[in-house]
Amino acid sequence: MRRQMESHHLPPTAGPTTVHKGPAANLAARRAAGEVHADPVQEKVVQKLQAIYEQLVAMADHPAPKPGFFARLGLGHSAKPPAGPRGLYIWGPVGRGKSMLMDLFFADVPMQKKRRVHFHEFMLEVQDRLHRRREELAAKGAPPEADTIVPIAKQIASETRLLCFDEFQVSNIADAMILARLFEVLFDEGLTVIATSNRRPDDLYKDGLQRERFVPFIDLVKERLDVMQLGGDHDYRLDRLRNFDVYLTPLGAWANAKLDEAFRALSGGADGEPRVLRTQGRDVEIPRAAPGVAMADFVDWCAKPMGAADFICIAANFHTVIVADIPKMGPDSQDKAVRFVTMIDEFYEKKVKFICSAATAPTGLYIEGDGAFEFQRTVSRLMEMQSPEYLDLEHIA
Ligand SMILES: Nc1ncnc2c1ncn2[C@@H]1O[C@H](COP(=O)(O)OP(=O)(O)O)[C@@H](O)[C@H]1O
Ligand SMILES: [Mg+2]
Repeated sequence: MRRQMESHHLPPTAGPTTVHKGPAANLAARRAAGEVHADPVQEKVVQKLQAIYEQLVAMADHPAPKPGFFARLGLGHSAKPPAGPRGLYIWGPVGRGKSMLMDLFFADVPMQKKRRVHFHEFMLEVQDRLHRRREELAAKGAPPEADTIVPIAKQIASETRLLCFDEFQVSNIADAMILARLFEVLFDEGLTVIATSNRRPDDLYKDGLQRERFVPFIDLVKERLDVMQLGGDHDYRLDRLRNFDVYLTPLGAWANAKLDEAFRALSGGADGEPRVLRTQGRDVEIPRAAPGVAMADFVDWCAKPMGAADFICIAANFHTVIVADIPKMGPDSQDKAVRFVTMIDEFYEKKVKFICSAATAPTGLYIEGDGAFEFQRTVSRLMEMQSPEYLDLEHIA
């Protein structure tokens, strides 16, 4: 109690005396500690993030005046929160440090209303909010709104003033068709957006259905965000891999025995049993589960209509997932490859430890077929997920 009272008497943190570090200093410190290598391409991007960071700090130190007398009485329009600085879209190949730089930036921003989210997860949430609002209106017998996206976007902008998106990518038409409208409102509400992506804006939703209706979104991104390429020639993720014990190849009795051994070791010797998880009204079947550990065959999850929400649910419930019998995939098994990518993305995002048996090394899993380009990221992730550093990371439940 006493300590709490004393803290009230600390000098206010506002004003020019405030000391914030920011991403540039954080990166320099990590470099000095020998944790990261000097990289001139990263340096350019971190300077840009530093500039945005400083603008956000200035806003936090000098908050906008409270709404005026009339606004407080509910007369006139209540003032919108002040617009944040112009955001940034960082794109480049995998393993170049895009997410690392964004996270260094995000960690230090002194704002309450900030959020860092995987783009996939964010869009699921948006679709879910749209769906619920339409249902609520219908239940009240109200006529359908002309544009449900606007109130949802305003709601998001009131909760969050800085949105950091990791893995910005557009792969389904439902998202593609609402993005322009959604982001138009988010930008108009003054929200600051930072994004990382494997693709330049012009290549987003490439070859997607009704792409011409998506193009206004690309124009919007280029108009409202600075775009920087992080295209150094070093894939740092590949450096991280050291042992292959969690990735067993080739398939066969030996690999099966090893996976079973792993399951038992992690479950304290238990056999495990089937379990069903519920998410968004759907059932997700786990063929073999013990506290913290799940096991399935590749076909159990990747040959069935499973989606991101299902894999997010699995990732939230288990710190380790074991998948047996990952085959080589090709043009005839594109749907399985797509699901596999989604699965690995969600596991990676939540730092789930992934143990598997596969027909070949990651680089040979999906060479031909649509989405083979996107699959590169999954290959890189599969490699990183085998590294001692990844295996040391804490599971995000
Ligand atoms: N300059 C660097 N020196 C050493 N490791 C780095 C450096 N930049 C990034 N890394 C590491 O490489 C891995 C890949 O970085 P990440 O930010 O995930 O790349 P991207 O988002 O571009 O795919 C991470 O483990 C990260 O910590
Ligand atoms: Mg990344």
